[in-house]
Amino acid sequence: MPTGRKPQPAKGFDIEDYLAQRTRAVDQALNHFLPPAVTKPATIHKAMRYSLFAGGKRMRPALCLAAAEACGGSVEDAMPLACAVECIHTYSLIHDDLPAMDDDDLRRGKPTNHKVFGEGIAVLAGDALLTEAFIIGAKSKGWPRYSHQEIILDLAGAAGSKQLIAGQVADLEAEGKKISSDQLKYIHERKTSALLCCSVRLGGMSANCDPDQLAALTRFGYNVGLAFQIIDDILDVTQTSEQLGKTAGKDTAAQKATYPSIVGMEKSQCIAAELTGCAFSALDIFAGKAQALTAIAEYLLKRNR
Ligand code: IPE
Ligand code: IPE
Ligand code: MG
Ligand code: MG
Ligand code: MG
Repeated sequence: MPTGRKPQPAKGFDIEDYLAQRTRAVDQALNHFLPPAVTKPATIHKAMRYSLFAGGKRMRPALCLAAAEACGGSVEDAMPLACAVECIHTYSLIHDDLPAMDDDDLRRGKPTNHKVFGEGIAVLAGDALLTEAFIIGAKSKGWPRYSHQEIILDLAGAAGSKQLIAGQVADLEAEGKKISSDQLKYIHERKTSALLCCSVRLGGMSANCDPDQLAALTRFGYNVGLAFQIIDDILDVTQTSEQLGKTAGKDTAAQKATYPSIVGMEKSQCIAAELTGCAFSALDIFAGKAQALTAIAEYLLKRNR
């Protein structure tokens, strides 16, 4: 079991307001980076924008920008990387919802991409968003400690066949099977924690963070990422589809391996809180400059969607 400090509220910090501001800035930047919906072939650009602007929580970009802040960097320098991770995340959702994968009809409060555009275009919209992420990432500045090559490798590594894709493969292969909690952790580390962790790391890199800061951000992102997927598993059981903007109860119906199904609801909640505690303690070296990261981690633990 992970050990860590008890979640501490970030005092005097309005997280709702902070996230709303960040969401507006990220939406504006994504709108700037993405080809307009009328760009030929219009179908694909409409489909990409449909899922990207359907109303996601924008947690990965928020984490990326907050990590940059914690290291003394700017929102402007981190923004292309924040947008790149959101494009990868949105692509992963479009593909996750396909009939061949989780077969979901509802995402971000709207019909899923393949329900609106058909499966062929949904596959291609996912492919295009994944590619777009690297176009946008390549538009970021290079930094003295982190070259473009290093940044692109970090992003590709998190999205690739040893991380996000590996997790999705193992998730599919675990359907209907009894797996151990270690095997489940393997899935969660890869399908979700890897990209969340990468979001935080890229924010730090955009601020030319030092190696100790990068190690701290990595530990923070890893733990928040694992907690994030455990909470996602819990919410699938406890919330309604309306509240989540995606079909609730799908994990049980599809016999997915989840924390509540393997270790039980109460223990799942404890583990998520402990992981969040570990994430908090990773932020010590930022000496008060990581208020936003602390507040986001706490918000993610207590979220209801
Ligand atoms: C859902 O992610 C998929 C997981 C990796 C658990 P989010 O809960 O961040 O989804 P959006 O971006 O808000 O739609
Ligand atoms: C999704 O996990 C992980 C990725 C898309 C990489 P889930 O399948 O649990 O996500 P939801 O619950 O459909 O959002
Ligand atoms: Mg899935
Ligand atoms: Mg799913
Ligand atoms: Mg889920």
